[in-house]
Amino acid sequence: MSADQIQPFRDEWQDPEFAVRWDSLPPSTNPVRKDQLSVLVSTIARGYRSGDLILDIGMGSGQVEEFIFERIPDAHIVGVDSSQAMLDIAVERLRGHSDRYTAILHDLREIDTLQVPDTSYRWVISSQVLHEIPHDAQQAVFSFVASVLPEDGMYLYADRVTIDQDHFHDAYGAVWDGWKAKSPELIGGSFEEFFEQYRAKVDYTATLDESISWLRDAGLIATPVHLQLNRFLIVAQPLR
Ligand SMILES: C[S@@+](CC[C@H](N)C(=O)[O-])C[C@H]1O[C@@H](n2cnc3c(N)ncnc32)[C@H](O)[C@@H]1O
Repeated sequence: MSADQIQPFRDEWQDPEFAVRWDSLPPSTNPVRKDQLSVLVSTIARGYRSGDLILDIGMGSGQVEEFIFERIPDAHIVGVDSSQAMLDIAVERLRGHSDRYTAILHDLREIDTLQVPDTSYRWVISSQVLHEIPHDAQQAVFSFVASVLPEDGMYLYADRVTIDQDHFHDAYGAVWDGWKAKSPELIGGSFEEFFEQYRAKVDYTATLDESISWLRDAGLIATPVHLQLNRFLIVAQPLR
């Protein structure tokens, strides 16, 4: 398909068929997801103390919860998401852990009215979610995160990031080629095809600088611990 044939598209999270399709996507759509989730879960596992609560902003179909329960079987998670279709898949996936998590149906664009069962969460996570909501709503979420994190709490934030291909096209292309050489069974197509798809997606990615400075404005010190092409994992803690 040529670039001018690619239509803009957006995610349809309320549609059960879309939710099932997303849940069974092959890793090629995000080749670094496994690595980033592994770092996210291992970071929690290293510092987890019995009784710690985890708040998942955009828990979706429970894939991240499944990883967490594999590593930390006694974890307790509160998950927020606006898609009943995704939460229904999570119920199936997490059948053996139903007493370990609470799901709340809520739209993150209205974070001011979100009510969660506890006032303090030592771990807050969000994976591949915030690019779905406008920048001012992302900033409101960061303020909310800062309000529930205790002094020794941590926010782990994985997401899509805006890439500056006007300046760095060849460098991004080289990362893509490296992925392809490493995992030819996962990565199909050229960087140019990937980039056209990336551009066609209707969402609200931010640059790394924007995200870090918004987190800082919310009172969190933040740094990327994993970044490849258009995917980052940022960790953030309350400024002391
Ligand atoms: C790409 S999925 C990621 C799910 C999960 N965090 C994971 O990594 O497996 C994005 C999730 O964001 C949720 N989402 C999108 N917009 C939302 C909004 N405005 N409020 C709450 N959740 C939203 C979707 O319903 C979906 O479950």
